[in-house]
Amino acid sequence: MNVRTLSPAPAVRHFDVAALARDTLRVQAQALGMPPRALDRRAAERRARASRGLTALGAFAGSRLVGFAYGIPAGRSYPWRDPVTARLHAAGRSVWAEDSFYLCELHVLPEFQGRGLGTRLLTSLCSRATEPRVILTTPHRPSAARRLYARHGYHDLVTAGSDPGDDDPYVVMGAQLPLLPAAFRAAQAA
Ligand SMILES: CC(C)(COP(=O)(O)OP(=O)(O)OC[C@H]1O[C@@H](n2cnc3c(N)ncnc32)[C@H](O)[C@@H]1OP(=O)(O)O)[C@@H](O)C(=O)NCCC(=O)NCCS
Repeated sequence: MNVRTLSPAPAVRHFDVAALARDTLRVQAQALGMPPRALDRRAAERRARASRGLTALGAFAGSRLVGFAYGIPAGRSYPWRDPVTARLHAAGRSVWAEDSFYLCELHVLPEFQGRGLGTRLLTSLCSRATEPRVILTTPHRPSAARRLYARHGYHDLVTAGSDPGDDDPYVVMGAQLPLLPAAFRAAQAA
């Protein structure tokens, strides 16, 4: 008799980004289709960003980090803050620059994708935010991330980046909190 044992779903829990900075960069590199060590040079920068007071959730298969998400109140000093808030103000979307949670990173290793882990990380992280809304930036092109965000009520606040020569423009997306899946939003609208 063939018995197939399914491995348990990764556990999602808080983690210290500074302590696992290199692991986060390796998950991120592979999620983005790069060689595992392609982003290792950013380890010091990631540790420095972690010291700004992130809320971070990791997905662990045993002790191995296989996915993570983290964010920060948008009002707190953070490298993305100034360009993103400038674009929101310019687009007449200033309210989104104030009292929002900023979702900085969300990545899942390719072999763990398509099982609901990205959804768990996104919804669990956003459920911990105390702000009334959440914003993020992501490349404008269609992607699994864009579909995931749209399913949870995110919409485009500022469309394609207008920097000259930018061939992969990013969009600022936002959603009201708490996040509501599409089915609940449809029921509310009816
Ligand atoms: C975006 C990302 C985090 C999503 O992670 P994920 O774990 O694959 O997310 P989910 O499993 O929750 O959802 C992904 C897809 O699997 C599907 N899915 C989830 N659980 C499923 C299941 N049990 N059976 C079948 N399909 C399932 C979802 O419906 C979704 O389908 P879609 O892409 O056609 O919309 C991941 O693709 C990633 O790391 N991408 C690269 C990095 C990136 O772009 N990060 C965002 C930067 S802003």
